[in-house]
Amino acid sequence: MKILIKNGHIIDPSQQIDGIGDVLIEEEKIKGVRSQKQNELRTQNSELRTIDAKGMFVIPGLIDMHTHLREPGLEYKETIKTGTLAAVKGGFTTVCCMPNTNPVNDHASVTEFILKRASEEGYCSVFPIGAITKGQKGEELAEIGTMKDAGCVAFSDDGRPVMNSLLMRRALEYSKIFGVPIISHCEDTNLSEGGVMNEGLLSTTLGLKGMPDVAEEVMVARDIALAELTGGRLHIAHVSTEGSVRLIRDAKERGINITAETCPHYFSITEDAVKGYNTNAKVNPPLRTKKDVEAIKKGLKDGTIDIIATDHAPHRIDEKLREFDFAPSGISGLETALSLSLRLVEEGVLTASQMVEKMSLNPARILGSLITHHLSLVAGSKGTLKPGADADVVIVDTIKEFKVEAEKFVSKGKNTPFDGWMLKGIPIITISMGRMYEWQ
Ligand code: DOR
Repeated sequence: MKILIKNGHIIDPSQQIDGIGDVLIEEEKIKGVRSQKQNELRTQNSELRTIDAKGMFVIPGLIDMHTHLREPGLEYKETIKTGTLAAVKGGFTTVCCMPNTNPVNDHASVTEFILKRASEEGYCSVFPIGAITKGQKGEELAEIGTMKDAGCVAFSDDGRPVMNSLLMRRALEYSKIFGVPIISHCEDTNLSEGGVMNEGLLSTTLGLKGMPDVAEEVMVARDIALAELTGGRLHIAHVSTEGSVRLIRDAKERGINITAETCPHYFSITEDAVKGYNTNAKVNPPLRTKKDVEAIKKGLKDGTIDIIATDHAPHRIDEKLREFDFAPSGISGLETALSLSLRLVEEGVLTASQMVEKMSLNPARILGSLITHHLSLVAGSKGTLKPGADADVVIVDTIKEFKVEAEKFVSKGKNTPFDGWMLKGIPIITISMGRMYEWQ
């Protein structure tokens, strides 16, 4: 099928395009982008679907470097099918899925299973992230080389830190040899043990055990030191504190090759969301304070934080209905991430182009040629609207206001602290590898 998207506001940071024009898609690839002044995009086939995108953003499909799809083993929380449907609904055409499944993705056979299920049932591209250590137990390295060959694009023990510094050193050494990022869940579990929210006055008032911000920061500092020692490829997951932003900024200024992500909940809300023992606001790392939110925004603005990822962590409703201490951590994020990030554009924290960079181009750059090798795609085929790139495109109605209604999420995870919020800007069409999904 051919699709011509006409008169949209095209934003493609990979080509410094930010203006009105048309995008032509043929089968699974981008054929071309035309600005208003250039000639008509030519297509010979009469089987052409034309979409008028006047007043809408037309952007490369978003890439989420941090998604929990839960399959295999935890299908009661989410499946590859429901998770990727939530992705395309939220404007994501690629998700990288974390290994904390059952069994853990610590072996090529699990990676192959995920890729097979994704090719059978997935609505978008899925790239697995392998575990750093066997069983995510933090004791013995997993077979990183074999898993990379099977299709893993990065390695992480997400959900848990690698507490053993020697193992983390070795993982970073391997990351250099194999050219894969190590995504670090930074948490010193001795400092955070038993904690269920941010440590401070509010945790004391609520009678809940806190996790101090330094539990994150000492590990960010350790991992930066190990990245400097090894020259390995460190990517810091879900940055939540002012101190972490400062450490990452300093490290980058010193020329250490690291990247970092944050998530919409860390720049949209504070620990106040926990008041009333709202388990939908229980997440790890925990929601922090106003000064942390401001620091994260500053870090996004000045480029310290490269990426906005979702940390989409779906849980079943009855699990979140348990007492705060016993409810699992996590927020279902795929269906609100873009709208929450558009608020940063409205506030003037980011330009629309910078937002697209952080949600599409930068993840593509970090994963680089890795998101190409397995499906034998060409390098640079995602995160861009360049001719020949994958036909991954999102059309966003930036004016439309809507109410977040968790029970209407297509994800199985209805666990969001944003339920009932009024947000502005929503994908109306997502095209993933040439397949079109219309929402409104
Ligand atoms: O809140 C979280 N939930 N943080 C993590 O690191 C893991 C995730 C999950 O898997 O539920």
